Amino acid sequence: MAKKSKVKAKAKAKSTKKVASRAKAKVAAAKPKKSAVKKAAVTSNVRSITKAVKPAAKSAKTNGAANGLPKPSSKPWGQAGKALDGVKVLDFTHVQSGPTCTQLLGYMGADCIKVERPGVGDITRGQLRDVKGQDSLYFTMLNANKRSITIDSKNPKGKEILERLIKHCDVLVENFAPGALDRMGLTWDYIHKTNPRMIVASVKGFGPGPYEDCKVYENVAQCAGGAASTTGFRDGPPLVTGAQIGDSGTGLHLALGIVAALYQRQRTGRGQKVLCAMQDGVLNLARVKLRDQQRLAHGPLSEYSQFGEGVAFGKAVPRAGNDSGGGQPGWILKCKGWENDPDAYIYFITQAPVWGPICDLIGKPEWKTDPDYATPPARLPRLRHIFDTIEEWTKTKTKFEVMNTCNEHDIPVGPILSMKEIAEEQSLRDTGTVVEVDHPGRGKYLTVGNPVKMSDSITEVKRSPLLGEHTEEILTKVLGYSAKELAEIKTSGAITPPEKPAKAEAA
Ligand code: COA
Repeated sequence: MAKKSKVKAKAKAKSTKKVASRAKAKVAAAKPKKSAVKKAAVTSNVRSITKAVKPAAKSAKTNGAANGLPKPSSKPWGQAGKALDGVKVLDFTHVQSGPTCTQLLGYMGADCIKVERPGVGDITRGQLRDVKGQDSLYFTMLNANKRSITIDSKNPKGKEILERLIKHCDVLVENFAPGALDRMGLTWDYIHKTNPRMIVASVKGFGPGPYEDCKVYENVAQCAGGAASTTGFRDGPPLVTGAQIGDSGTGLHLALGIVAALYQRQRTGRGQKVLCAMQDGVLNLARVKLRDQQRLAHGPLSEYSQFGEGVAFGKAVPRAGNDSGGGQPGWILKCKGWENDPDAYIYFITQAPVWGPICDLIGKPEWKTDPDYATPPARLPRLRHIFDTIEEWTKTKTKFEVMNTCNEHDIPVGPILSMKEIAEEQSLRDTGTVVEVDHPGRGKYLTVGNPVKMSDSITEVKRSPLLGEHTEEILTKVLGYSAKELAEIKTSGAITPPEKPAKAEAA
């Protein structure tokens, strides 16, 4: 990336280190008393979180803690465990939305036990395969930091194992088609009765209503959530975006809901249902367009290019091309090399406070005082001409040169980075956002690490599990099955694929 941003990133990293070491020096030396921690436990399932919950007044008096919290840990930053240590997740997810959620929980320290159908597993293991016979990147990039157990949820013994898992875990996360969990016999009533503390978190395509029974994939959600109708160019069809706002976006929402439900459980002692509909998740991300829908009732949307072009608005929010969704007009402009490089472009924002430096840079100093250009409202009807003029300047420089020059003047711009450039970007490796992982079957691959950086809960990315890799380990070490019971389970069909019927002997 641009030199300056590298320098900035280094400076930032240094200052973060400084802050961390200063904070380290300040950390109180005292450890919470063992007895106080014991008293605070509400359930045995969430060890790390339960410590934080205790009647405030009493404990504050007895151990000097504030607001009922234990005394600050004296352990070095990042060595006091992980944010979700002790949280056990029964991960019944597949494809993308659910796995995004549980992978994040895993990054934050939760023990994610992924239940997969024997012999088959998550369908994405075999989808879009790039290495013959190996788990696909689709699967490996969404299932890090998890253990895999194979269970046939419709086999009687399998059901028994699942019941043990439900008793053992804090959260069940699933994104089956509507009704599938019930058809397995895992209704909310059954789960809640079996483990009243369990949080049952689901992704579905739609919330309750006319479409609640529909199966939904990413692009269906992008369309039903309002994003597609507002994406693309005015004179073209609706477009879906490459960012998986329906799947990964909804997974993110669900993860937040789960963490909030775990927090509430500290007070109530009981679990609850958490539902994220993909339509709702997409709409939440597209909320600025619902904002614009309401603004339409009060007149044209003046920051949309079509306003300046004199094109009338219809009844619904139109597609706005590359117009900025906020109050500062922006557009994608060509840079040097655009004729051969499809990504030689830059997003340029004509932010009002830096209008003067923009005019100087592009050789139009007179625009600073010209009443047709000097103020944001005066510029709105002329945006097309303004961006065409800026583009004459950006076309003389590479996107990184434009970025460097603009950064010096605090002008907000963004180079259009290709996935190749992102994969090779050292600063993203340095922060753990892009991580190289080694896999026994497929070798090294890149994945996206935890986009949420926490100073006391450091993410380690562990490769995705092979199908059923941890079945025996979970049955014996987590669920306590004896060797004899394990042998019985192995022959019950609960953890192995159904045997193929023997071929009829040739006559
Ligand atoms: N043992 C036995 N059966 C299992 C099993 C296991 N371990 N795991 C799954 N199954 C069964 C289910 O019970 C279901 O059987 P049923 O239909 O007889 O009840 C079957 O596998 C298929 O599950 P389903 O969820 O319907 O998968 P699908 O491939 O047909 O549909 C989706 C995929 C994504 C469209 C659908 O799951 C869905 O709409 N999910 C909710 C929205 C969502 O998350 N979409 C985005 C995905 S990224």
